[in-house]
Amino acid sequence: MLLSRRRLLAAALSLPLLPRRAAATTAAANFPAGFLWGASTSAAQIEGAASEDGRGPSIWDAFARQPGKIADGGTPAVACDHYHRWREDIALMRRLGLTAYRFSISWSRVIPAGTGAANAKGWDFYDRLVDGLLATGITPMPCLFHWDLPLALHERGGWMSRDSAGWFADYAVAAARRLGDRVPYWLMLNEPSVMAIFGYGLAAHAPGLGGGAPACLAALHHQNLAQGTALKALRAERPAAKLGTVLSLQPVVADSARAADGAAAIRWDAVWNRVALDGVMRGAIPGILVPEMAKLVRPDDLAIIRQPLDLLGVNYYSKMTVRAQPGALFDTGWGRPRAARFTAMGWPVQPEGLLDILMELKALYGNPPVMITENGAAYDDRLGPDGEVADPTRIAFLGDHLRALRRALAAGCNVRGYLVWSLMDNFEWQAGYTRRFGLAYVDYASERRIPKASFHWYGAVMRGERPI
Ligand code: BGC
Repeated sequence: MLLSRRRLLAAALSLPLLPRRAAATTAAANFPAGFLWGASTSAAQIEGAASEDGRGPSIWDAFARQPGKIADGGTPAVACDHYHRWREDIALMRRLGLTAYRFSISWSRVIPAGTGAANAKGWDFYDRLVDGLLATGITPMPCLFHWDLPLALHERGGWMSRDSAGWFADYAVAAARRLGDRVPYWLMLNEPSVMAIFGYGLAAHAPGLGGGAPACLAALHHQNLAQGTALKALRAERPAAKLGTVLSLQPVVADSARAADGAAAIRWDAVWNRVALDGVMRGAIPGILVPEMAKLVRPDDLAIIRQPLDLLGVNYYSKMTVRAQPGALFDTGWGRPRAARFTAMGWPVQPEGLLDILMELKALYGNPPVMITENGAAYDDRLGPDGEVADPTRIAFLGDHLRALRRALAAGCNVRGYLVWSLMDNFEWQAGYTRRFGLAYVDYASERRIPKASFHWYGAVMRGERPI
C-alpha cells in the first residue's frame, strides 16, 4: 500500500523512484534506532520567487530593500531559487541520505495578506514539496513561521499586536487542513526570542523596529500567545499529529565575576531563553521580568501559552558571553567568549554548551522529547579549481557537536533527532549571501548546488560508516 502510493507520487511528480533508505534511520553507530537524521532550511532563505504566483510581500522583502540593512545588499527575491528547483533539491537530499527535512512555509505565499483569502498556487507548491519528500522516503517537518511575517500583518501591528494570536492560529489550521493528511510533525515558530530581540528590540532584523525592551517583550509575549493558541487549535484539528516548536537555547555566561556582569547574564538568559521556554513548558514568566511584562500579560494568557509538546525543537550554535552595558538592550552587551575556535560569524565553537542545554532540559524540564532542529556553522568556503569544496572546519564542528549529543544520549537525555543547518548555502539574513552554512555550496550565478566535503562526511555518518 505504502509502496504503491510512493510509486504513484513519484510518477505524478516526475521524480525518480528510489529505494527507501532504511539505513540512515538505524545504522549510525552509537545512536538509537529510529533516530531522525536531517537538515533544515527556511522559506525566505531559499525559496526566492518572492513575487511569483500570487505570493504577497513579507517583512524581509521590504527590510532587505532598505539601503544598508543587508551586508552585500542581497535580498530574498531569488535566493537559491528553490521554488523552481525543489525537485533537484529533493534529489540532493536523497543523495545525502536524509530521513527528515525541516523547511518553513512562507505565510505570505499561502495567505498573501496574512489573513483572509488563500493563494491556491502557494499551497500547491507545498503540496508538491510534501508529496515529493514522502515519495523519496523523507519525513517532512514544516515549521509554520521562520521570521518572514506577511508585510500586510506588520502594517496591522505585526507581533506588537495581540491580534497576532488569532491570525497565526487561523493560518496554522489552514495549513493542517491542506497538508495535515500527510505531514506527521508540525513545528510552530522558529526562535521567537531571536525574532523579538533583533527585529523588535533592536533594528538588525526585519521589521527593524528598534523599540527597545518594551517592544521586544511585547513581540515575545505575543508570539508565545500565538503559539499556544495555534497548538490548541491544531490539537483539536489533527489529534494524531506530533506538535512542536523551535527555540534557540544558548547557555548564557557572564564575561567576568563582577556582580554587574552576573546580573546582565541573568537578565539576558531570561529574555533569550526563559520567556519562551518557561512559557510553553511551565506557563511561567521569569521572575525578574514580571514587573516589565505585567501590563502585557492578561489573566488567562499563561494557561494558553503552556501547552504539551510532542517535540521541543532546539537550535544550538554556541553559548553567549555577556556583560553589563548601560544603555544597550536590557543594559546588556556582548562579552569576550573564551574559546579556541570561532566560525566565520565570529561565534565561538562550544559544543559543551549543547550538552549543558540537554542536561538542563532533562533535570529541570522533565526530559521532554527533543530534536536538535538546527546546528551548524558558517566558514569561508571556496569552490576549488578541482570543482570541490573542502570544509574540514565544518566537519570538525559537526563532529564535535554530535559527540556532545552522544554524551547527552548516554546520560539519558531524550533526543530524537538531529538536523544540520543547513542543507545548502542560503540568504543569511543581515549578512546576505556573505555567510555560507550549507552542506552543499551554492554558486549563486548558476544556482548550481555542489556538495561540500561535509556533505559526503555527514552522509557517511548517517549510514553508520563513520562512527562519531
Ligand atoms: C536561524 C537561521 C539562521 C541561523 C544562522 C538561526 O538562528 O534560525 O535562520 O540562518 O541561525 O544564523
